[in-house]
Amino acid sequence: MKKFMMLLAMAAMTISALADEGMWIPMLLGRNEADMQKAGMRISAKDIYDINNACLKDAIILFNQGCTGEYVSDEGLFLTNHHCGYSYITSHSTVAHDYLTNGFWAMNRNEELPCPGLTATRLVRMEDVTAQVLEGVTANTSESERAAIIEQNIGKITTEAVKGTHYKAIIKPFYYGNQYFMYVNEVFTDVRLVGAPPSNIGKFGGDTDNWMWPRHTGDFSMFRVYADKDNKPAPYSTDNKPYKPLKHLEISLDGVKEGDFTFVFGYPGTTQRYITSDAVELAANIENPIRIDLRTIRLTHYKNAMEQSPAQRLKYASRVASIANGWKKWQGETQGINRLKGVEKKKDFEAKFQQWATGKPQYYNVLPQLKDAYNTLRPVEVELTYFNEAVMASDFMNRTLSMWRLADMDDNDKIVAAVNKMKNDNEKYFSDFEQHTVVDRAIFIETFVYMWQAGYAPYLGETTLSKSAIEKKLGKIYDESVLNNKTKLQKLLDKYTAKDSKNIKKDPAVALFDQAYNLAYDPQKLAAYRKASQDIQRLMRSYVKGMMEMQPDVNFFPDANLTLRVAYGHVEGFRPKDGVYYKPYSTLQGIMEKENPDIYDYVVEPRLKELYNTKDYGRYGTADKDMPVGFIATNHTTGGNSGSPVLNADGQLIGLNFDRCWEGTMSDLLFDPDYCRNICLDIRYCLFVIDKFAGAKHLVDEMTLVGGKQ
Ligand code: ARG
Ligand code: ASP
Repeated sequence: MKKFMMLLAMAAMTISALADEGMWIPMLLGRNEADMQKAGMRISAKDIYDINNACLKDAIILFNQGCTGEYVSDEGLFLTNHHCGYSYITSHSTVAHDYLTNGFWAMNRNEELPCPGLTATRLVRMEDVTAQVLEGVTANTSESERAAIIEQNIGKITTEAVKGTHYKAIIKPFYYGNQYFMYVNEVFTDVRLVGAPPSNIGKFGGDTDNWMWPRHTGDFSMFRVYADKDNKPAPYSTDNKPYKPLKHLEISLDGVKEGDFTFVFGYPGTTQRYITSDAVELAANIENPIRIDLRTIRLTHYKNAMEQSPAQRLKYASRVASIANGWKKWQGETQGINRLKGVEKKKDFEAKFQQWATGKPQYYNVLPQLKDAYNTLRPVEVELTYFNEAVMASDFMNRTLSMWRLADMDDNDKIVAAVNKMKNDNEKYFSDFEQHTVVDRAIFIETFVYMWQAGYAPYLGETTLSKSAIEKKLGKIYDESVLNNKTKLQKLLDKYTAKDSKNIKKDPAVALFDQAYNLAYDPQKLAAYRKASQDIQRLMRSYVKGMMEMQPDVNFFPDANLTLRVAYGHVEGFRPKDGVYYKPYSTLQGIMEKENPDIYDYVVEPRLKELYNTKDYGRYGTADKDMPVGFIATNHTTGGNSGSPVLNADGQLIGLNFDRCWEGTMSDLLFDPDYCRNICLDIRYCLFVIDKFAGAKHLVDEMTLVGGKQ
């Protein structure tokens, strides 16, 4: 342990060998300060994170458990992405009041819309608690004992840390459990929707442009946090007042140019920077292709349905967005890994590590053992992938899962709750049954057939059988299951008791699900899988520790784990392929170039065109009468960084992070400064849309703008 701490301290003196790669811990940013300042930053690490004074971190929000937001007014107003606020915008939308399509702007505080379930979390402080968490753990402690001790210690430490306060504490492992940090948080629960642009701005380019540059999406939405009279978190109440944050961001209208220093401050979710060649191969060349194919099936059917009517478009919009998001990213990731020769590069490094580990008993067996663990893990992992992406692809099988669970319940209260939930779900399901079953039935059949053809659904029959026979069989299951018969299902649920469980187990859908489940979750296989996963965790702990000892002058950043991080780099274009250079910014002109009234994703609002034609950009346009829309930079980001502020050398807000360039999506596994770019919305376009386009200037007036032409 001591040795590890020394390594970390040594890393503090030398500085990162890898240009632009890294998601750094705010509390330890002092280690990067010199490097950041050399790169152009004019503020100090303390301006970013400081527990004694209000600092930039007080303006940052964890938006639910998956996006980032930032305060831009002293009255709790914050910005995040449109795609982060998406489900809240959708949930307030109906065909009559279609905020998703037309946009929504609260013209006064009373019009702001409550969003039950939405949380906005502020980090109060963080602390290195490694020594306390590992107290009682020795070199001889077994893995399961270690886990138990750690859990117990964490319970004690977190309880103690928040005693007598309204704060919540969590502790997370870093470097695979070589280090632990505690986060003390303040969680706000009265969060209201304030504004969102129409979809053809907030989602301009849709899934076609998603993960791509050049980009023209106005990907932002606005919310406001409300607090009680003491400025503390409180459940929704009309008595609550706008929250007064300790800090809100200044907004710079000066924009950016190529080469400018930028940093992103937010909550990256997951990266796997240190995994072995086997793990990269599994993700990029085994799992991704399966997932991509299966999602193609789902997307084809949903997209066809969405073309049919506005109601269908609204119905499937959100799920298509999320299915398509992973689908497209994995394609870029796999291509990126292979272009980079990622697997080979890892193998080269592993060979060097192995050489270095010679004569070091604590490291010598790590890589061979990791290989063994992956050999055990791989086949089960593939089966689980099929289960998640094929078996669970249809609503039909998801509804079957509830029924299958019901069949196993004997506790009366649980049965009543489950039955009620199913009745509720059914009401929604059957309200659009005719249209929806066409889509859902096709998805059910095609995904199962795909899995069967690959040999992963042996219970449907030999792969030598005819495809049409299997399709017929599946069609019959769909049509004959009680789940698709409204009257029968209602009757069954109305008088359901534990005694009926035998009957539902006979239902063809429940029987099919049971077979699929038992194959993927076979207890013996699963036990081996769990053991392999645990081994991997333990071995990775040693591997990463070894890497640090082997390269004492490299500053290793810890993998993302949905804790607050700083990534820094420069505004910079790139060459996606031979003969092509991408400039680092886009403008409103590009929106006009992409305009196509016949393609939903490329419709341009008349009002936006009008502003473009008259060049009426107010103080948000550039000196040469351009309206900037987006820019790219070399900041290392990942899912969860969406909505994160992009800040300039003075720590002022210049943009909102919302995506990455397709050619660089392998950055979760391997970062390549030539290809990896984060995509940002230029804050000037955001303000222009609020003020000039939507006429919601009162919201801009709450903010603190600096620079630009006055
Ligand atoms: N690719 C971005 C991210 O991973 C944006 C996703 C939302 N947009 C979309 N068109 N589906 O979250
Ligand atoms: N779009 C992602 C998000 O929602 C960001 C990324 O993956 O780069 O967090």
